[in-house]
Amino acid sequence: MNTVKTVRELRAVVARARSEGKRIALVPTMGNLHSGHIALVTKAVQRADFVIASIFVNPLQFGPNEDLASYPRTLAADQEQLLQAGCHLLFTPTVEEMYPHGMADQTIVRVPVVSEGLCGGSRPGHFDGVSTVISKLFNMVQPDIAIFGQKDFQQLAVVNALVRDLNMPIQIIGEPTVRAADGLALSSRNGYLTEDQRTAAPALYRVIKQIGTALQNGEQDHQQLISDGVKDLEAAGFRPDYLEIRHAVSLRPATPDDRDLVVLGAAFMGKTRLIDNLHLVKE
Ligand code: PAF
Repeated sequence: MNTVKTVRELRAVVARARSEGKRIALVPTMGNLHSGHIALVTKAVQRADFVIASIFVNPLQFGPNEDLASYPRTLAADQEQLLQAGCHLLFTPTVEEMYPHGMADQTIVRVPVVSEGLCGGSRPGHFDGVSTVISKLFNMVQPDIAIFGQKDFQQLAVVNALVRDLNMPIQIIGEPTVRAADGLALSSRNGYLTEDQRTAAPALYRVIKQIGTALQNGEQDHQQLISDGVKDLEAAGFRPDYLEIRHAVSLRPATPDDRDLVVLGAAFMGKTRLIDNLHLVKE
């Protein structure tokens, strides 16, 4: 597996793979890879002939008080895992390579509606940063398919809307969340948790699942489910950011008549903000 840092090198390798008739997959990441990321690469290896992963901690999607500086950077370990997973090329651009004219005057790609509220409400500008960097990566690689984790449910909705609205001929594949044995969704940010916080953290998914079960059992009072869930999160030591029931495709607030639902939550454990979700279709 080669690692390239420049768009010029990336394009040269992609052009060669294309001229050999290869189907190309892209797995965009911010590095500090765990089994969740590797599951995306494994899926890419199954679905394409040439797999490219990118590692770029994108400053444009971090707010001023967020963890851009401390975000874990573990390139050597990431390279080893990608190699083992069968990745063919790793793209690790610098900030200057991605934003050669600076970020202040960078063209911004904004996906409306699905980017609003939830993480978009708590992290203003976050999804503009995501859709901009993903647009750039898609234009640099022009992959046939791109693979994202369902843990970032809203991000996946944003990327789906982006390729639909801008007619990008790229198939987006969402892969199920990979979890630890106690249910905690794998995330690079889990590494920030103390031992006690790590023990308490699975409560986020437990509460989300509790709401999912109640919905499946016919409970229609969404407000009550959410206020009970918020209390349960607080009792487990979380400071809830949001807990919501939304329509799984449009991401608008769900009504009792909706059947295709997603329960989404974000909550702080100490200073660490964790997110999770559960997609369910009511029977
Ligand atoms: O999910 C992530 O790791 C990032 O948001 C992504 C998709 C790589 C864009 O920077």
